[in-house]
Amino acid sequence: MAERVCPVWVGYLLASPLRKLLQNPNKILGPFIEEGMKVLDIGCAMGFFSLPLAQMVGSKGKVISIDVQEKMVKSLEKRAYKAGLKNRIETRICPRNSLGLHDLAEDIDFALAFAIVHEVSNPSSFFSEIFGTIKRNGRLLVAEPKGHVSEKDFEITVSVAEQSGFRRIEKPDVARSRALLLEKR
Ligand SMILES: C[S@@+](CC[C@H](N)C(=O)[O-])C[C@H]1O[C@@H](n2cnc3c(N)ncnc32)[C@H](O)[C@@H]1O
Repeated sequence: MAERVCPVWVGYLLASPLRKLLQNPNKILGPFIEEGMKVLDIGCAMGFFSLPLAQMVGSKGKVISIDVQEKMVKSLEKRAYKAGLKNRIETRICPRNSLGLHDLAEDIDFALAFAIVHEVSNPSSFFSEIFGTIKRNGRLLVAEPKGHVSEKDFEITVSVAEQSGFRRIEKPDVARSRALLLEKR
């Protein structure tokens, strides 16, 4: 069971524009996002992915960014405001044991869980909650850092996601990550 969440100071590093040289959000997510989509960024931290997602979904789309740490979310809100994207991003702070997304049942086109599952204490209920929010044929991209998560542990993570009802689609190439695109059929 994961005990620790990513410290806030690491949140600043993760939001650095330099990270784009290695993990470019447009390249990683562009193939899966269309204008007007409703997207979830789970474990959003300071919005490294939420802000580009808000650009990609356009003025008719929406990004719902959720994290357990208030400081991460407050920083994301400031960045979204500065970038003129505040009206496309809804932020939420959740407790560690629940994402509290019941109001979004079958409402989401695409969800991102990037470098979060290894910090989650109950991956089974985590994936079940996400599954409940996804529309039919909607997708979830899970990516975990190679440095923290072995191939074997990533396979366990994927099995748990499958037990929640997700189906494997493809293995996108994401630098320094183990990644899998899943779908709700
Ligand atoms: C390593 S950071 C990754 C942040 C972001 N996805 C990125 O790639 O830049 C993990 C984030 O997940 C959040 N987190 C950890 N456990 C969580 C949970 N149970 N529910 C929501 N957020 C969680 C942490 O607070 C942290 O901001």
